[in-house]
Amino acid sequence: MDLPYAEPFKIKSIEMLKRTTKEERYSLIKEASYNLFNLKSDYVYIDLLTDSGTGAMSDKQWAEIMIGDESYAGARSYYKLKKAIKDILGFEYFLPTHQGRAAENVLFSVLVKEGDIVPGNSHFDTTKGHIEFRKAIAVDCTIEEAFDSTLIHPFKGNVDLEKLEKVLSENPIEKIPMVIMTLTNNTSGGQPVSMKNLKGVSELCKKYGTRLIIDSARFAENAYFIKIREEGYQDKTIKDIVKETFSYADGMTMSSKKDAIVNMGGFIGLRDEDLFKQASTFNIIYEGFITYGGMSGRDMGALAQGLDEGTEFDYLESRIKQVAYLGQKMKDYGIPVMEPFGGHAIFVDAKKFFPHIPQSEYPAQLLGVELYVEGGVRGVEIGTLLADRDPVTREDRYPKLELLRLAIPRRVYTNNHMDYIAASMKNVFDRRNEYKNGLKILSEAPIMRHFTVKLDKI
Ligand code: F0G
Repeated sequence: MDLPYAEPFKIKSIEMLKRTTKEERYSLIKEASYNLFNLKSDYVYIDLLTDSGTGAMSDKQWAEIMIGDESYAGARSYYKLKKAIKDILGFEYFLPTHQGRAAENVLFSVLVKEGDIVPGNSHFDTTKGHIEFRKAIAVDCTIEEAFDSTLIHPFKGNVDLEKLEKVLSENPIEKIPMVIMTLTNNTSGGQPVSMKNLKGVSELCKKYGTRLIIDSARFAENAYFIKIREEGYQDKTIKDIVKETFSYADGMTMSSKKDAIVNMGGFIGLRDEDLFKQASTFNIIYEGFITYGGMSGRDMGALAQGLDEGTEFDYLESRIKQVAYLGQKMKDYGIPVMEPFGGHAIFVDAKKFFPHIPQSEYPAQLLGVELYVEGGVRGVEIGTLLADRDPVTREDRYPKLELLRLAIPRRVYTNNHMDYIAASMKNVFDRRNEYKNGLKILSEAPIMRHFTVKLDKI
């Protein structure tokens, strides 16, 4: 018989979890104004709010914490990270930042001006936030297939090259400082982008004279999908695929909290020395001197080690297959999940889960609330609350997909936890017709409202 996959590691240290009762959770979420971000994590049994900064570091990463060099300038740990970025990703120039959105802030401070247009594949919310904050416009050119939650397509993160070319050809190119490709595409379900598509985007960028920047948070998971699904890549190593991926880009922003398996950190990778110099000024103002940029030396060491571990096939296989295990389990229960399963998360289609609850009543948020009450499992809404209001009309923007994301932290939970999550979701699903109404907003912030919004049941 074929041997099943199993984790290429064993567990050296554990963290105890607190259990609460359903009655307690009912009051706790009410006190939290039905906003899952307001819950104390002690009252969450399985936390799937995000896969960002929630991974478990390895013994070798912890060893880096001990040997970190905390010198303000020129630290040994900085050079270790610089070498890892050059060797694994291929970028000559890099700037450390405290996390991914800080990398966006620094780079966009150089590149994005009022009235600019930044096309891409469903920009992540902080990316879009940094673009819109500068009064520029993010144009989504993702393929239409991405918005059908059950259509099987191997690379639902792809850009529609025709849509992209239309944007590039119909606008003055000096208004388009870059195209941003997000790997994997978080917003449309953790879906990968093919190498062929990336190459196509890169060719268009060259043809029209703009840059290609990769939002790289989950670049290694993207490389895994290329190896598994794209012709010609089966025999390549993840590290080969990663190298080729970045060879098409002029630069990258990185949230190291995902695929580099650290709890905090980010960076910018660049090829162009002049752009690096301009960005360095903003890095010093916003983040810190260019050889630490908001990171401790020890954290840069752990990040260098994490980049290496995170781009190994055995690790990626066990990680992505665990996510698929959860997805399959829920699918077997009849729960409407997005397919193919994403790399870092399972996305539940709330419009299909609660077809009788309109998007104006935030059905994905309702699902998140009910899953928490049922099992103490915390997911996150990727729907109308996250989509925010239109900056001009101030009306709610209704995204095509209304999802509850269950993001799986790296190297943290076992498949027993996955079984528990699926069972909790099934119990809510079995009762789905008993929920007559959704939620209404009591108060919200003018931008990125989902973090602090206060809600009540209708
Ligand atoms: N880009 C993508 C694709 C992301 O998913 C994130 C963060 C960022 C950029 C920003 O990075 O958090 O380090 O500042 N995503 C997290 C999530 C928050 O839960 O998906 P950051």
